[in-house]
Amino acid sequence: MSDKPWGGRFEAPTDAFVEAFNASTHVDARMYAEDIAGSRAHATMLTAQGILSEEDLTLILDGLNQVEKEIESGEFEFSIALEDVHMNIEKRLTDIIGDAGKRLHTARSRNDQVGTDTRLYLRKRTEALMIRIKHLQGVLVKLADEHAATVMPGFTHLQTAQPVTFGHHLLAYVEMFSRDYARFDDAKTRMNQCPLGSAALAGTTFPINREQTAELLGFDAPCANSLDAVSDRDFIMELLSSASICSIHLSRFSEELILWMSAQFGFIDLPDAFCTGSSIMPQKKNPDMPELVRGKAGRIVGALMSILMTMKSLPLAYNKDMQEDKEAIFDAFDNLEGCLRVFGDMLPGLKANIGNMHKAAGSGFSTATDLADALVRAGVPFRDAHEIVGKSVAYCIKENIELHEMKASACADIDGRLTIAMVQVLSVETCVAARNHTGGTAPEQVRLQCAKWVKQLND
Ligand code: ARG
Repeated sequence: MSDKPWGGRFEAPTDAFVEAFNASTHVDARMYAEDIAGSRAHATMLTAQGILSEEDLTLILDGLNQVEKEIESGEFEFSIALEDVHMNIEKRLTDIIGDAGKRLHTARSRNDQVGTDTRLYLRKRTEALMIRIKHLQGVLVKLADEHAATVMPGFTHLQTAQPVTFGHHLLAYVEMFSRDYARFDDAKTRMNQCPLGSAALAGTTFPINREQTAELLGFDAPCANSLDAVSDRDFIMELLSSASICSIHLSRFSEELILWMSAQFGFIDLPDAFCTGSSIMPQKKNPDMPELVRGKAGRIVGALMSILMTMKSLPLAYNKDMQEDKEAIFDAFDNLEGCLRVFGDMLPGLKANIGNMHKAAGSGFSTATDLADALVRAGVPFRDAHEIVGKSVAYCIKENIELHEMKASACADIDGRLTIAMVQVLSVETCVAARNHTGGTAPEQVRLQCAKWVKQLND
């Protein structure tokens, strides 16, 4: 004989290993609050529709309160024999209040229940991630404002390209994170529809009011199609896509922090509290946090792959495969939240080595484009200007000097159109200040953008 809530048609008990293998309590127990909220809303709606009595409703609501207290105090014992959070809570409720507990599952299935719980739980977790993203943006904007005029080399191909301001570089990440925020917000809006009432797959024979249940749980509407409601997991795919993109942004930022903290760059130092040493090399201070955050991107993107592959080719409607949907996203969200927290806490302590940045910004002929632009302003066609500056760079490499150190005679030898006045004014400060238009790297633009962001983040 089976001892399961669904055991009526079974003659033999579940295999002991299968019982453990089948259970999802170790993953879904964390949705207990959402499961209880869903049951409260469902019972309230059933009563309003005359399907449950007022007496049953009172018993159910009181009983659910008690179950919630027992879980929160740690005295509740989840049993794997009861498979999941849904049946564990229902069983305990029934132990406390008797038959009324057994009536709660009227017009409901675990299929619409799990869909509802997961959406509610992930809505809450997404909101927490969005708060973390916003906080990190605030930290970056503050740092960017402090370094609006700090000059560093800008790179393409990781080769010195043109001078940029450190503030401008940091604001690039503020932009990326704002799109991450918007992606989460967008996914959150799309998933905010309530599966409850879809029951197993086709709806129910009872005269339910799905609009009421949806409203009680803060959903915008009930899901419009019961089959879709119980089999849709694209909200998880969307959330994990958003999480993956955000973690990729964090990994790029991590990589730069790691490079910048190396002795070879020497651009920044990170606070001791976020670094560790080596057990053998006494001189070492390792940027562990950016390294770990860079690594976390792998497992977060892995979670996206996992849900995509789990759902691939699954026929409608619910399939047990879908029980695998939660572990990966819970892990990914826990880790992304950790990454965002670490960055938000670590970056206010970042120390920029302005001297090293400035020195590096001026090396590698980073002002060459500006010299070409000066020639163009004097009427030289850009292609000719490019050629003239190219020759100048070759000359400077041979002489081991910088462009602004060229003598008038050398300029004249290279090309009659190249003047000493053009090379003498070359400096990394003039280079960045000259790029003073929307989206440019000039300190003035960085300050404008910071002011815009401060306002936007506080709205
Ligand atoms: N533990 C299940 C899950 O996470 C709940 C739904 C189970 N439904 C069912 N008919 N077995 O997906």
